[in-house]
Amino acid sequence: MKRYLFFGGKGGVGKTTAASATALFLLKKLKPDNSILLFSTDPAHSLADSFAVKIGNRLVQVAERKGAKLIAYEMDAALALERFRAAHGKVLAEIAERGTLLDDDDINELLNLSLPGLDEVMSLFELSELDRDGKYAHIVVDTAPSGHTSRLLRLPEVFARMVGALDRMGEKHRYMVAHFARRKAVVDEVDLFLRDLTARIESVRHLLYDPEQTSFTLVTIPEAMSVRETQRYLELLREQQVPVTDLIVNRVEQEHAGCVYCAARVATQRPWLKEIEKSFGDLKIHHVPLLSQEVRGVTPLNRIGTLLWKQKPSNRS
Ligand SMILES: Nc1ncnc2c1ncn2[C@@H]1O[C@H](COP(=O)(O)OP(=O)(O)OP(=O)(O)O)[C@@H](O)[C@H]1O
Ligand SMILES: [Mg+2]
Repeated sequence: MKRYLFFGGKGGVGKTTAASATALFLLKKLKPDNSILLFSTDPAHSLADSFAVKIGNRLVQVAERKGAKLIAYEMDAALALERFRAAHGKVLAEIAERGTLLDDDDINELLNLSLPGLDEVMSLFELSELDRDGKYAHIVVDTAPSGHTSRLLRLPEVFARMVGALDRMGEKHRYMVAHFARRKAVVDEVDLFLRDLTARIESVRHLLYDPEQTSFTLVTIPEAMSVRETQRYLELLREQQVPVTDLIVNRVEQEHAGCVYCAARVATQRPWLKEIEKSFGDLKIHHVPLLSQEVRGVTPLNRIGTLLWKQKPSNRS
């Protein structure tokens, strides 16, 4: 499996469950002393619920197997955004001072730091920071529901454009300042900030879009609303060139002897299962049955992990 594994889909379909179960499954294959990072970009974190342990805004070991560790992190993105503002406020103000050179709405948005989904961008910045020394064998990312994440996916592109614009602006500024040498220190600081921001955006892009090391797994339920939204989401992800590879069809109903209700549920899902085979045929499809109890804690998560990755996908490869 790839190094970066993203899990995404509509609200409540089982993204956190699938991400946690996959991280545990990968842990079984790890060499001693290696570790996996399970990271959530969803401001409404639920890794802790999934593992039934407390996590929060720090690295916490949630499982261990033969010396290999699973580390989870529920980042406080709002706090990171505050820190970003505090750390770079002066530089941003300096950039804003050159406002006469600006006419692009994007840049104004950057300066105000009021972009929607910016807290999620902060999570990705943090993630690329955590990965700087490359110590994790895998990084599994539990994302926020599709509506939220789709904004995030567009941001690196928007950001790159902004940084380009800011950089061009910086050039003009540098030229001007060359004639007023006493302001040089500020220019250096702006330069440094722009360079750092560009580097971070680049590493985030790499992390999201490089098919060599990243795969995005969609999670859905075989029901109308979820299937439709997944179709739209896949389209968007493809447009943004995110390497989507797998589809998890979760909560698949099963017949049980004498259960009329179950039979009715199975019948309701049947056309949607067909629709899924038809419209997601180029993804590897994995079915997970609806379990009788909620999936909380290592034992049921391990069960889901095995169901997911031990069985052959239902279509190509
Ligand atoms: N196959 C399953 N059988 C039974 N319960 C399941 C199954 N998959 C997930 N659940 C339960 O469904 C609930 C929602 O799952 P989960 O939290 O993983 O969804 P999510 O997509 O991450 O939700 P959100 O969008 O709120 O983050 C959880 O209580 C989980 O235990
Ligand atoms: Mg979740």
